[in-house]
Amino acid sequence: MYQFSREEYEARMKWFVQARFGMFIHWGLYAIPARGEWVRSQEEISREDYMKYFEEFNPQGAGPAAWVKTAKRAGMKYVVLTAKHHDGFCLFDSKYTDFKSTACRCGRDFVAEFVEAARAEGLKVGLYYSLLDWYHEDFPHYGDRNHPMRNRPEYSNEGRDFERYLTYMHNQVREICTNYGKLDILWFDFSYDNLRGEAWRATELINMVRSLQPGVIIDNRLEVSGEGYGSLASGNPTPYHGDFITPEQMIPPEGIRDANGKELYWEACVTMNGNWGYHAADHYFKPASMLIRKLVECVSKGGNLLLNVGPDAQGNIPEQSLRALEEIGTWMAKNERSICGCTKAGIEKPESGRVTRNGDHLFFHLYENSIGPMPLPGISKEQIKSIRYLATGAEVPVSTSWVHSDYPDTVFADLGPDPVLPDPVDTVLEVVLKS
Ligand code: GLC
Repeated sequence: MYQFSREEYEARMKWFVQARFGMFIHWGLYAIPARGEWVRSQEEISREDYMKYFEEFNPQGAGPAAWVKTAKRAGMKYVVLTAKHHDGFCLFDSKYTDFKSTACRCGRDFVAEFVEAARAEGLKVGLYYSLLDWYHEDFPHYGDRNHPMRNRPEYSNEGRDFERYLTYMHNQVREICTNYGKLDILWFDFSYDNLRGEAWRATELINMVRSLQPGVIIDNRLEVSGEGYGSLASGNPTPYHGDFITPEQMIPPEGIRDANGKELYWEACVTMNGNWGYHAADHYFKPASMLIRKLVECVSKGGNLLLNVGPDAQGNIPEQSLRALEEIGTWMAKNERSICGCTKAGIEKPESGRVTRNGDHLFFHLYENSIGPMPLPGISKEQIKSIRYLATGAEVPVSTSWVHSDYPDTVFADLGPDPVLPDPVDTVLEVVLKS
């Protein structure tokens, strides 16, 4: 019988809360057609036709070492790479398939390069592994919800042996858990229809993973997808329950709690434009200012942000992403104490912005200018030990102006004569409370 240990669980989640901000990297053959990572499914491309990308794949650009450096400069603390996506193509040297980067012209093991680079930068390392596989002959084709050949009766499933696929999949997971050193995150993707939980032989899979990688943190997608919370949230954890919830392309309105009202760990995964994999025509990038505030929003609701990049076929992160990450990095360099290790503040969201908290330290993220002194609702004067601009360390006095004498119970901060906040994106005030 599986026994959930809260103590072990909290211990392995510690770094995840400290980190709060990570980079997701979606990369594979689909970067060549450059229409997103679902291209083979969306356009119902045959296996044979997709092989031309395999023949061609020979990236000469920046690659894993540069991605990881970019993540570090942006203030990210962990990185997660697609070791295998739904198309089945592997960025690692699996001995169970030839559909892998080491068998391409480039002959490179990108997972090996990636884990080494990440560790050299002191970042935590995660690998994404797709439970789906559109290349493997034993994975359901005709009639499956997602398979590129789903509408083609001639690709019937007769003779396909799903158990054989599962053995293949387990073997590959064993490889990534054995050949690449210590992993901090394993990010499975995803369950749907009848393919969930024990349909993946999930207990067996997880027991293997935990024996090879005792401290690894695992997402919840052996049970669910971007939809659904999983068994930890419902209060009866299965042996293969996820360690964190994975809302996709959205931030939960009030964070996420389990059936007993206890806060759960979660990580919103979000793209910078509208696609995970490289998409040459998708220019709808979110501005850095928005992404900074979205990171703050996640932390203020008790969650992490895993922000995605989709490098192109040469292995270069798109310019627009690089520019935004640079700007985020400049903000993080001055303000990361209001993100890393922080969580919900336990006070209502003020009109001016949001609040994050780390113990006795409250961080007021100010987005909106005030007329006169800035109200800091939710605290009292007696509680305050000090107020400083986080970016500069400069003292911010509590205001004694007569203008707010009608509001004696509200603390107002005196931001000086300039009516405009010094950082138009997010000016952070660090309020230290008396302990
Ligand atoms: C979805 C998509 C996939 C992407 C993932 C990221 O499950 O199928 O392409 O990798 O979301 O969360």
